[in-house]
Amino acid sequence: PAPGWAIDADVVVVGSGVAGLTAALRCAAAGAKVTVVTKARLDDGSTRWAQGGIAAALGDGDTPGQHLDDTLVAGAGLCDEDAVRLLVTEGPDAVRRLIGTGARFDTSAAGEILLTREGGHHRRRIAHAGGDATGAEISRALVAAVRASDIETVENALVLDLLTDADGHAAGVTLHVMGEGRRDGVGAVRAPAVVLATGGMGQIFSATTNPPVSTGDGVALALRAGAEVSDLEFVQFHPTVLWLGPDAEGQQPLVSEAVRGEGAHLVDADGTRFMVGRHELAELAPRDIVAKGITRRMQETGTDHMYLDGRMFGARMWAERFPTILAACRAHGIDPVTEPIPVAPAAHYASGGVRTDRHGRTTVPGLYACGEVACTGVHGANRLASNSLLEGLVFAERIAADITSRTVRPGPAVAPAPARDALLPHAARYEIQRIMTEGAGVLRSAASLDRAAAALAGLHDRAAEELARDGKTAEPCVETWEATNLCLVARVLVAAASRREETRGCHWREDFPERDDDTWRRHLVVRLGPERT
Ligand code: SIN
Repeated sequence: PAPGWAIDADVVVVGSGVAGLTAALRCAAAGAKVTVVTKARLDDGSTRWAQGGIAAALGDGDTPGQHLDDTLVAGAGLCDEDAVRLLVTEGPDAVRRLIGTGARFDTSAAGEILLTREGGHHRRRIAHAGGDATGAEISRALVAAVRASDIETVENALVLDLLTDADGHAAGVTLHVMGEGRRDGVGAVRAPAVVLATGGMGQIFSATTNPPVSTGDGVALALRAGAEVSDLEFVQFHPTVLWLGPDAEGQQPLVSEAVRGEGAHLVDADGTRFMVGRHELAELAPRDIVAKGITRRMQETGTDHMYLDGRMFGARMWAERFPTILAACRAHGIDPVTEPIPVAPAAHYASGGVRTDRHGRTTVPGLYACGEVACTGVHGANRLASNSLLEGLVFAERIAADITSRTVRPGPAVAPAPARDALLPHAARYEIQRIMTEGAGVLRSAASLDRAAAALAGLHDRAAEELARDGKTAEPCVETWEATNLCLVARVLVAAASRREETRGCHWREDFPERDDDTWRRHLVVRLGPERT
């Protein structure tokens, strides 16, 4: 549909988590006119759900080099070492600047930042806030800073497509806005720099730690715009998500790795610590190894969950150090002070995304990506715990530096948004989640992936046929755009997971159980052609 209203800006930032708001604040501080658009409210994305913290070499004796080593090991041979080096060397100062923006981290009586451990880290290097509410504090501080600035914000604004100028340079985005008065309906923000910071895609699976808004909108937009997307097969499953029964669906409560970092044990129903002997770091092995260890033990014992035993902490430590997790467990009738917590893996983080260079530039000029939507190369085949908030910060700052150091010239006339596929009905969302959980979850095989690919193609083709035959498509609204985006992203993910015939990082193939460096120490990069099938 043609835009009914338009805003002009130097930079449009799509998304309002740590990456988006940091990019917006840094661009605005350099004098750019910035508009932030976000699908729900400013603080509704994934950032505020982050518990454990933000990793950076801030502690005595720790160095960026050691952080680099741990990140490369977790990434299982697919990290871009130069990108990781930028992350770990620029990280400590980026965290200090975040503190300068108003975020308050937990400190000792002497005022030093307290640091914890998480999976894959050989040192204490995770800064946290409010005990286990780090993301909420970061989000609070950034939202307050944006509200106090002259950055324009448009909430309830689902991004639809990239606008480009006659040379194929990004020229803004179209949006579907609901309930925002004079900006209701389909509109556009025209800007020569577009920053995608739309977060992840956890909602393609039935059970996830991600909030309902994480529907892969940025990756879908980038695919439709002809940008390159990479590493989508590497979906990270968090090992310890509160298990609420076999039929639990949607966003599930996280039980932070920091709980293991402070000494809690993973045990089976008999109380046996099954990670001991499977890896030298036992419960603190990198996340993919712990998720696999839990899944294997569930298979061996014929159960659908394991337990996290943190009874040794006692009531006071639970209340002071992990108040969010304690409250979530108690809300579901579990008291971690007196009983082990039932846990199982659930979809948590997209290690891949829209491919960028070290300045956050995608392959479409003027289009940038940062945060979970991006694939900067720092995560490889499996993200190291608590590197995501850090990546959002560091690469948002790099993007702002790139945008504001360029002469920003408005492009020529904005071309109309590209023609769109048929929209899927809202109910398709649940069908996609079921298909993906069965076919492309923690454990995958050629057969399961083929079934998933066929079922997803069926959903897409039915909608496309109806459009071609009767000119009918689902009513355009947030739910139908989301279902359509989820389907597109899921199809590309399944195609990549089928191609990668090996097991590496968080991609686990039952039929190819070994890592195959000879053939597969490389990335799968996807760019859709005009036919988009
Ligand atoms: C956690 O607190 O366990 C999550 C940390 C992360 O995803 O990096």
